[in-house]
Amino acid sequence: MTIAICPGSFDPVTNGHLDIIERTAAIFDKVIVAVLENPSKEPLFSAAERRYFLQKVLAHLPNVEVEYFQGLLVNYAKSKDAKVIVKGLRAISDFESEFQMALTNKKMNPEIETIFMMTANEYSFLSSSMVKELVYFGGNPEGFVPPLVVAALEEKLGRRRSGK
Ligand code: PNS
Repeated sequence: MTIAICPGSFDPVTNGHLDIIERTAAIFDKVIVAVLENPSKEPLFSAAERRYFLQKVLAHLPNVEVEYFQGLLVNYAKSKDAKVIVKGLRAISDFESEFQMALTNKKMNPEIETIFMMTANEYSFLSSSMVKELVYFGGNPEGFVPPLVVAALEEKLGRRRSGK
């Protein structure tokens, strides 16, 4: 059984992430979506919220699990017996940091491969940060994130915007 890991901050999950995870699930026996729980970062959504959104929107895929991870990704992958890390690549701008991470991960554990999937064209511009900024300034994120995330963003950022 080949296990793949789709890691990320997912703050919050976007339709671009979902596209990559769904395509990964069609190739590998099992996919672990690994939500980074980083105590030094201040995400908009807690790790529990980020995991909940992912679990809800991926519930139709029986071979996908959503978990938290901390520390080095390669150590986590090894602990789960996963041989493959799958990342989405959007544009040239992603390449440099992804290349750096993939090579560092390879150096730390040569048995784990990182593979990249091109994002679907319609999501190539999309990022969690852009979506948060859009909502903060009153824009509508429908079509960029799943409906339950639209509501959660509006609830959290709408309140901040109005200073409540
Ligand atoms: O969604 P993101 O923020 O682009 O995801 C980045 C993530 C979580 C994949 C990356 O930051 C990560 O793997 N962090 C864990 C620490 C680690 O192993 N870093 C890479 C080698 S130094």
